[in-house]
Amino acid sequence: MFITFEGPEGSGKTTQIRLLAEWLGKQGWGVVTTREPGGTRIGNGIRSLLLDVDHTEMTPRTETLLFNAARAQIVHEVIRPALQAGQIVLCDRFADSTLAYQGYGYGQDRAELGRLIRYATGGLTPDLTLYLDVHPEVGLVRKQSGAGQEWNRLDARTVAFHRAVQTGYAELIAAEPERWRVVESDLPEQAVHQAIVAVVAARLPVEAKERR
Ligand code: TYD
Repeated sequence: MFITFEGPEGSGKTTQIRLLAEWLGKQGWGVVTTREPGGTRIGNGIRSLLLDVDHTEMTPRTETLLFNAARAQIVHEVIRPALQAGQIVLCDRFADSTLAYQGYGYGQDRAELGRLIRYATGGLTPDLTLYLDVHPEVGLVRKQSGAGQEWNRLDARTVAFHRAVQTGYAELIAAEPERWRVVESDLPEQAVHQAIVAVVAARLPVEAKERR
């Protein structure tokens, strides 16, 4: 089962993925957690290129291709093998981030992005996508004040950009309501965790667990 996490910066995805992985582990599931961009040696190299504050000349198209290059690698190296081994994969951001950020944020053609994403992923799509819903300004403030968080090139995008991203996510959710679940994330960590557990527990493939 392939579960992805989406949402604005500072929505607490990283913490919630860790808590869910711990919970799934206690239930006896094999879990692999990973993140985009990154998650592989090549992906981490691409991540550095993307986040480098000196790379002010990077065009949205280059950005899109780099995100998808990292994605092709992580799908091949980490996600598909884990799914084939019957593990649950939790991924911090996936293709929806490209549609929301590069598509709605930068106004790049979404049909073209869709084709590029299919090329990068070989058509792999999440079984479930959790949207951690937090007011974008609140998220940005959280991110800026986060302990040990480095300010990076992508964080320099404007509030208007982040509003467009949020609108984009709303449209993506409306287009595929079966795949998405929205989780209110302006709440305490444990309350958000319990909401996520309730959603995931209802979707776990029971037969697959019995077969393990
Ligand atoms: P990161 O530091 O991982 O932020 P977060 O904790 O919010 O996930 O940086 C990832 C940034 O890259 C984030 O601003 C979202 C952006 N992004 C895209 O613009 N397109 C993409 O395809 C992906 C995967 C991420």
